[in-house]
Amino acid sequence: MKKKVAVLISGRGSNMRALIEAALAADYPADIVRVISNRPDAGGLAHAAEAGIATDVVDHTAFLGRDKFEAELDRRLKEAEVELICLAGFMRLLTSRFVDAWKDRLINIHPSLLPAFPGLDTHARALAAGVRFTGCTVHFVRTEMDAGPIIVQAAVPVLPGDDEERLATRVLEAEHLAYPLALALVAGGRASVRGDAVVIDGAAAPTGFLLNPAAI
Ligand code: GRF
Repeated sequence: MKKKVAVLISGRGSNMRALIEAALAADYPADIVRVISNRPDAGGLAHAAEAGIATDVVDHTAFLGRDKFEAELDRRLKEAEVELICLAGFMRLLTSRFVDAWKDRLINIHPSLLPAFPGLDTHARALAAGVRFTGCTVHFVRTEMDAGPIIVQAAVPVLPGDDEERLATRVLEAEHLAYPLALALVAGGRASVRGDAVVIDGAAAPTGFLLNPAAI
């Protein structure tokens, strides 16, 4: 049985698109049953609707306080019989009540190699720190922002001449591979949380290592 998944967005939804596309494959273990935005003007909503996916808006500005907003979100998720939630550029912090209620069924993608650079402006901060690799992380959500057991990471080299935009573009490409992979592992029952880490059952491991710069 495919797992029923909701994708929560606030903006353009390119990761949402990647998940929708991946889930078209007959053997993909998840079905995207609903896309929910907290912003009525989120660009991703139109794409989801075009793809034939039910969309919903739960506008946070219409609620007095986070608890009421999240209670409504939770109600809509249950109504759609959602089993797993993917946050994809969802720009609201979730309270511990919501996060605990969806523990290990709530996934997020962040554009850095966590635990480095949680929060905003990750690419600018990676460039300023002079790291030779950055990337993205798909992880189970915990109450602290951008923390939680890591499911998949993609390493992206920082290249000479990179600015925030160029780096963001390459990391985003990696995000579009990492998120569908992570969701497949979770929905397929192959990613289990053990303490603060995730154990992956039977997936191919990468070989070798990357150097940056690659050679003289
Ligand atoms: C992505 O970089 C994601 O990692 C971060 O927000 C951005 C959302 O982009 N959490 P999109 O809406 O999926 O295109």
